Amino acid sequence: MKISSRVSDISESITLKLNAKAVAMSESGKHIYNLTAGQLPFRPMPEFSSLIRDELDFIRSYQYSPVPGYPELRKKIIANWEKTRGVSLSDSGVEFDCVVTNGGKHAVSNIMGTLLDHGDEVIVLAPFWVTYPEIIKFCKGEPKIIYSSPFDVFKPNLDEIKKNISPRTKAIIINSPNNPTGTHYSDEWMRDFAELMLENPHVNIICDEIYFQLFYFDPKPTFYYQSKPELLARTIIVDGISKTLASTGLRLGWVIAPKVLTKAITTLQGQTTSGANSLVQRALVNFDFDLIETYLGPIKKHLRDNAQTLREVLRENELSHTWYQSTSAFYYLIDFSQTPIMEKFKSSATDTADYSPEICESLLEEFGVATVPGVAFGMNNTARMSLVMEKEPFREALEILMKFLKG
Ligand SMILES: Cc1ncc(COP(=O)(O)O)c(C=O)c1O
Repeated sequence: MKISSRVSDISESITLKLNAKAVAMSESGKHIYNLTAGQLPFRPMPEFSSLIRDELDFIRSYQYSPVPGYPELRKKIIANWEKTRGVSLSDSGVEFDCVVTNGGKHAVSNIMGTLLDHGDEVIVLAPFWVTYPEIIKFCKGEPKIIYSSPFDVFKPNLDEIKKNISPRTKAIIINSPNNPTGTHYSDEWMRDFAELMLENPHVNIICDEIYFQLFYFDPKPTFYYQSKPELLARTIIVDGISKTLASTGLRLGWVIAPKVLTKAITTLQGQTTSGANSLVQRALVNFDFDLIETYLGPIKKHLRDNAQTLREVLRENELSHTWYQSTSAFYYLIDFSQTPIMEKFKSSATDTADYSPEICESLLEEFGVATVPGVAFGMNNTARMSLVMEKEPFREALEILMKFLKG
């Protein structure tokens, strides 16, 4: 059977692949430190799970939901977003709506599916979440990748972005707090970015805010539209419950965007997946979003503590030059190219090729530590590791990682 080029051109999700390998090794009896996790290893808050339980008795929880989601939930999501971001969508001058989707990933694919025509360009800032370029390609768009450097803590260069904007640029995606770096862009960067976007009125801005509440170092994340609310008119927000409610498996996300786009997304969703999970939507209708902050308190402390342990372990092993302060989400991008392990993989001193899959494979197979090769995020010779593990095993995993890095 011949598979369409649209799908065969897509790369397999390396994050899920490496995680599956680590799980298989661990099931076969090997002790594995799995640092690939893209989710919190905690139960969701009881105030949320009990609402799901309450809804189990209603027939509507098992029936189709309206395609864009229950109206009262959509209203609530928009009101909560306006409150937590300190902006009013009425300042945008256009009508907004929300579409509830089957997770944040589905929100992104719905956006690309409705926005892109053949050959449209979308600017993606590296390191990026693995899915962006693949969905853009699936929708016959062209990802334009702008690279950044670990020496600049992955701050995207605005001049580079400017140079890459063309008449075919349909959108730019920003993701702050960021997967995989575990940092968020500064307020100063956001303000300068807003100015650049004002100069380019044909560019839509997709703002993936799925980790917004998961910052554990001040200052809290800010966004370009807070300084220039007129940019809201071409802003498309991605969010959901996967990360902040520790509910990746419930598959619930959303898009908040100008109504012209949410209407088109509703048409697409109506012919592809229909409305998202009714049971979880019903539970969310009655859920108090304000509780999330309290729930995340100890989780943020845990992430901050593990980030501190990482700093200490790097210092003890004289690898401080590879350290940067992670501040948010639950990841850290370790740079192999600044450590002795690189010499084992490079063919010569001038070799600049990417060896991150080979390095991560060796780390997993020989040392039992699973990480995700950075090439998947557009960052050669790096690996993403997750900071969510329990403190003791996390320190143990780091000690093993240090041995490996020192060759
Ligand atoms: C940056 C980013 N956006 C969106 C998502 C989508 O999350 P989900 O589809 O699990 O809701 C993820 C998940 O890893 C992510 O890291």
